[in-house]
Amino acid sequence: MSEVAMQRTAVVTGSGRGIGQATVELLRSQGVHVVGVDLAGADINVDLSQEEGRAALEAGVRERCPDGIDVIVGNAGVLSEDELSLQVNYFGAVETLERLRPMLRPEAPRAVVVASRSVLKPVNEEIVKACLAGDEARAIELARRATDQRHLLYATSKRAIARWIRRKAPTPEWAGAGIALNGVGPGAVLTEMIAQRDPAEQERLAIERPMPLGGMATAQEVAELIAFLADARNSKIAGQLIFIDGGGETLMGHEDIWEAMLT
Ligand SMILES: NC(=O)c1ccc[n+]([C@@H]2O[C@H](COP(=O)([O-])OP(=O)(O)OC[C@H]3O[C@@H](n4cnc5c(N)ncnc54)[C@H](O)[C@@H]3O)[C@@H](O)[C@H]2O)c1
Repeated sequence: MSEVAMQRTAVVTGSGRGIGQATVELLRSQGVHVVGVDLAGADINVDLSQEEGRAALEAGVRERCPDGIDVIVGNAGVLSEDELSLQVNYFGAVETLERLRPMLRPEAPRAVVVASRSVLKPVNEEIVKACLAGDEARAIELARRATDQRHLLYATSKRAIARWIRRKAPTPEWAGAGIALNGVGPGAVLTEMIAQRDPAEQERLAIERPMPLGGMATAQEVAELIAFLADARNSKIAGQLIFIDGGGETLMGHEDIWEAMLT
């Protein structure tokens, strides 16, 4: 194989800052050709909350990468207490993955979604179901009506995408085609997404949502995990949501997560 043919190509959404930007930088330093996607200032500028933006993403990648791609990183996300969380974090991510999946080359295709440790928080189950049914209009309508549950919408979007990953990863379209599909679940990461929180709130959250290894994660630390899952060397991990939260999930979730396997 020639050197050019061996170079991997990755599409990273939300590439403009934070975890996405750190992932682009790390992958490029590893010799990967990266196509960045964001609202503005990226290689492909689209709004993934909208159907036309998602279609433009597909067209843009087809045009830029006529020989195909090797990696999809669905990272773009918003922390918003309205339907935008569902439109970007769930439907934007699913459409990114589904639309770009047919372009993945067969040698070592990988897909990574940036979910969140928030999947452990309470959610609106009806909205999760609407998401997984692919019914965006209903999910948006339910979110608009859930005026007393706005604070649940971010976690709801992340729970839905986490469940989608688990459901899709072992299917013929993904694992059956050799594509390792996984998610990462960061705890608190020091990016602009949470930088606006006031210090008192930050302190309260640090106690409520612990990071036993100490301190918040950096975007670079999360990028290292994404890059590993996206690498050809990750040949057998699929369908997993790997928490990157300094061990906090072990304190927030159940101790025995393997019970289902014993039955
Ligand atoms: N920062 C944290 O503490 C944290 C924790 C857990 C999970 N996450 C997840 O990590 C991912 C990246 O977050 P971050 O902290 O780097 O946030 P960030 O706000 O710094 O970056 C998000 C990027 O996504 C882009 N984006 C947002 N909406 C978009 C849209 N409609 N179309 C295209 N691009 C869009 C933004 O322009 C931005 O560049 C998100 O999915 C987020 O939910 C973050």
